[in-house]
Order: sequence, then C-alpha cells, then structure tokens
Amino acid sequence: MLTFEVCNQSEETERRLAALMQENREILTLAQTGEACHADSLGWLDTKEWAGDAALAELEALAAEIRANADAFVLIGVGGSNNAARSVIEALQTDGGVEIIYAGNTLSPHAMNRMLRRLEGKSVYIDCIAKNFETLEPGASFRVLRQYMDRVYGYATAGRIIATGTAGSTLERLCRDNGYTFLEFPTNIGGRYTAMSSVGLLPMAVAGADIRALVSGARDMQLTLRTRGPEENMAYRYACLRNLYYCDGYRMEMLSCFEPQFRYFYKWWIQLWAESEGKDGKGMFPVSGEFSEELHSVGQFIQDGTPMLFETFLTVREQQDSLAVKPDERADYFDYLEGKDFWEINQAALQATIRAHSKKLPCLKLEVERIDAYHFGQLFYFFQFACYVSCRIMGVNPFDQPGVEAYKRRMFEALGKEPAGS
Ligand code: PA5
Repeated sequence: MLTFEVCNQSEETERRLAALMQENREILTLAQTGEACHADSLGWLDTKEWAGDAALAELEALAAEIRANADAFVLIGVGGSNNAARSVIEALQTDGGVEIIYAGNTLSPHAMNRMLRRLEGKSVYIDCIAKNFETLEPGASFRVLRQYMDRVYGYATAGRIIATGTAGSTLERLCRDNGYTFLEFPTNIGGRYTAMSSVGLLPMAVAGADIRALVSGARDMQLTLRTRGPEENMAYRYACLRNLYYCDGYRMEMLSCFEPQFRYFYKWWIQLWAESEGKDGKGMFPVSGEFSEELHSVGQFIQDGTPMLFETFLTVREQQDSLAVKPDERADYFDYLEGKDFWEINQAALQATIRAHSKKLPCLKLEVERIDAYHFGQLFYFFQFACYVSCRIMGVNPFDQPGVEAYKRRMFEALGKEPAGS
C-alpha cells in the first residue's frame, strides 16, 4: 500500500494545515461522491465503469492476439493518450515480448523516419489513440502509418490496425469503413485521467503488464480515498499541503526519485498537474528530479537558489535488485563501499538528500511497497484524486485545458486547415 508522510513541518504549519483541512472538508465530500457539474469528466472515479471485468477480459483477449502475432506495436498518441501506458511499459516491460514503439507525439520528420525504419522487417500492429481526432500529431502520424501498413501488408492490413476513439467520431467512421478494430475512448474521461481504461490498458497489456493487478491497485486506492474522512485521507492531506505551500509563495513542485524506472511516470505526472491546475493565472509548476543524476545539476538550485519549490520524494520500500561492491586491489579510494550493496548505497543517497533538502524547503514522501503493476494503479488513482481535490481548493477546473487550444488555433491557421464540417 502507498503511504504518505511529511518529512519536515513546524508546529505553526501543522496548525495552519489543520485549519485549511477543516475549511475545505466539503470539497473532499463532494469529490468522493463526484460532483454533478463535472459528471462528464468523472468516468475514472469508479474504476468499474471503464475497467470492469468484462472490459478487462476483452482487452486481454485482444492483447493476447497481438502478442501472438506481432514483433512491434506502435502506440500512436500524444499527452493523455500515451503517457500512462508509456510510464508503465517503460518501467515494467522485461519479458522481451512485443517491442512498443511510440508515434503521434512529434511532427519532426527526422523522428518519424527513424520510427518507420524501426518497423522494417518486423510484424507490426498499430493503435491510434485520440479522443479528439482533430489533434494534428496523432492524426498525421496515423495517416503515415496506415500507408506504411498498406504498402507492407496489402489486403491483410485491416486486422493489424486498431483505433481508440470516441463513439460517433471520424475515427470510428474510418475504422468502420476500413474494417479496423475500434475501441471506445471513454467520452466521460479527459485524456490525462484515462490510465484505467482501454486507452492506457491495451498498450500495457500488449507489453505484458498485468492490467488486472494495476486496476486492482487503483480500486483499492479508490476505496480508501473515497471513504476516508479528512484526517485519515492522504490524498486530501497532500492536496491541502500543496495549497498551503502555494499560499506561502511556493510555485513549483518537484517529484524526486532515485529509481530511473519512474522516468516516464514523471511525464504522466507533469501532464496531470500542468494541464489540470495551471490555469486562470494560478497553479504549481510541476517538475521532475531524476536523481542521482540531477543532484549534480539542479541539486545546486534546490539547496541554494531562489526558494520557490517544494519537493515530493517518491520512494520504494522493498529492495528490488541487488549488486554488491566487490574488493579490488587497484587503489581507487572507494574501498569504503566494499561489501555494501548498491541498494543500500542508493538508499543512503536518498536519506542524505531528504535530510539536506528538508533544511531548506518543504519535503513530502510518498512510498510504494515495490515497483509493479499494482502500485502503478495505486499511484495513478492517488494522484488523479489528489489533483481533482487540489484544483477544487485552488478554485480551478481540474478537467479542461483551454490554454492548449491557443497554439493549436494558430497552427491550424498557418497550415490552412478548414473548420470541421466545411
Ligand atoms: O488530457 C488531455 O485531455 C490532453 O492532454 C489530451 O490527452 C491530449 O491533448 C491528446 O488529445 P487527443 O486524445 O484528443 O489527441
């Protein structure tokens, strides 16, 4: 189970936190039941809605078919349509099965040509995931990849193409007209909240991740967060702390971790907070701290620079691997490490960093038992729920992203896109 603690807190901050938690308890109650005003975005609140037994069985069957026939699976999607799956796949894929290749997240011809070259000689399946099929990056990549598939597989192409879109969309029509497999993108969930739906779960299952364990982790977290009162509710406590730090002038939250397996989870986490909270001139800017490496770059700023960020350490309780330092006759002055395991050395670096940073800035700690599918489910649900509550306390809409439209409008103008339906 996930645990949450505050590493350093004065009595005065504890007192102010208690007052803030008291003041906003109604927001927690409303979030636990799901507010009617956000009903069109809360399809993730109960994991059973889009990741119940029947849905999981269907996704597992499709994934098994793909795993039996494919060497490579191209996940075409951007932002919420790829980040959750990618974070799990890049952390957990170890079985040497289907290679997952990403597309639809760039318009660079260099990157796209490189991606196409990786497909050569392989048995390929593709899945285009787009809630709004007007999004340029996945839409244009899907066209390029469909043409590649037609060239390579001719009449047998259709069975290798999957698309995940909303019911009634152009994407669905494209599938029906061409015999592609169509999966439903939940209409009542925005991209960044879709980890526990066909959007996140099919690519994870194709990569060999245990999606039942992931959903069960999310469900256990759901049961905890939607039933516990303010005092015992860790997501609520975390959301209130973020708002307290925000009032105190902190403007950035750094998610820091000593396990590179979380590299792509950072991207999911950053998107969740940036698009949900960063609006109306408000919000905490989310950044990641990939330690140890970045202790040797941004570590200087954290310890000694402008005091504008607080840190949330993501830690792992159970030792998950082992590498011992062996004796060596050649003098390198690292003999003090002899007999120690890199797990222990990495833990020492973590504890030292928390001690050093908590002298300077507020530090929180979120701990998972181990890095596996179950705990990814716990993390997804924990942060989604905390983000919903935190945004409501801050007074912003957690589920829209009007700012993203500004660049899209100008880009479409520049490229001569006709308005839809004209
Ligand atoms: O969270 C969101 O809604 C966005 O980040 C979307 O996921 C992202 O813009 C991709 O959108 P679409 O799936 O419509 O291509």
